[in-house]
Amino acid sequence: MKTVQNGILSDETQLARYMSFNLVDVEAAKDSLEGLREFADGESIVVGFGLSLIMALGTSISGLHNMPVSTAPGIDIPSTPCALWLWLRGDDRGELLHRSRKLEQLLVAAFELSDVVEGCQYDSNRDLSGYEDGTENPQGDEAIKAAIVQDQGEGLDGSSFVTVQQWLHDFDMLDSMTEEEKDNSIGRHISDNEEFDEAPEFAHVKRSAQESFQPEAFMLRRSMPWVEGMSGGLIFVSFGKLFDAFEAILNRMTGHDDGIQDALFNFTKPISGAYFWCPPMKNGKLDLTALNI
Ligand code: HEM
Repeated sequence: MKTVQNGILSDETQLARYMSFNLVDVEAAKDSLEGLREFADGESIVVGFGLSLIMALGTSISGLHNMPVSTAPGIDIPSTPCALWLWLRGDDRGELLHRSRKLEQLLVAAFELSDVVEGCQYDSNRDLSGYEDGTENPQGDEAIKAAIVQDQGEGLDGSSFVTVQQWLHDFDMLDSMTEEEKDNSIGRHISDNEEFDEAPEFAHVKRSAQESFQPEAFMLRRSMPWVEGMSGGLIFVSFGKLFDAFEAILNRMTGHDDGIQDALFNFTKPISGAYFWCPPMKNGKLDLTALNI
């Protein structure tokens, strides 16, 4: 789709860099974003704007808000909003470093880099727990229906709302679990990726079954493992036409719906979380008309 940042719908890359920025000079923001519009192609660099930046530009995007902090017994879901999020996609770690340095320089007048996380593939689309991730993602037109804003007018059509959460895995805990315990936590067999009917209600795929929500809670997940030193986990990235589907699923995962918590929380926890609006494309460039740029 010409109006969509193509990286959202394209195949996985081998590697990624996720850059987060704070806004430090409101006056310089427009100039910096004009520079970004020239540089970001939407395919190798996907761009998301946080609420604080949209507000600083004196505008608003219907549906964009900050991720709520959520608390349940033994579970803290943090909200760590920031102004700007860049998802750099590629297959060459050195090239990604150089590209991210260029972006930092391009934006330096208005934005301060607050975080960089490096993503990578593990086997074929596996989370570092060993389970394949993304199997039940909507495909083709269904992916567009779930993830892309439509019929809202020019400047909005083709845009998307993205949730980004960094999850930190407890590998010692995973090591201590039997294969059966791990399969029951996810609700799929690690051996063949098959879902099984007798999976317990706390299994992740039972908590997150998109069709079981009213309305159905489809989203397009583009998550990737991250690794730093001896630590690692998942960068959960999901695109939606709003944040409703994500919020409905997270509510059930934390047990807010029925008191049953997702077994994922036994071996992993989110350490960051933010929402962004990803603008559409026009003539091969970011379309920033909704921001009056
Ligand atoms: C570290 C965190 C997470 C891990 C390791 C993880 C892993 C997985 C795995 C292995 C599957 C099964 C295969 C698949 O269909 O992709 C799955 C399914 C799914 N997950 Fe997660 N997930 C995580 C967090 C989340 C979060 C935070 C959400 C949304 C709030 C979510 C939403 C979903 C959905 C919608 C499905 C498909 C369910 C279906 O319709 O069958 N996941 N996840």
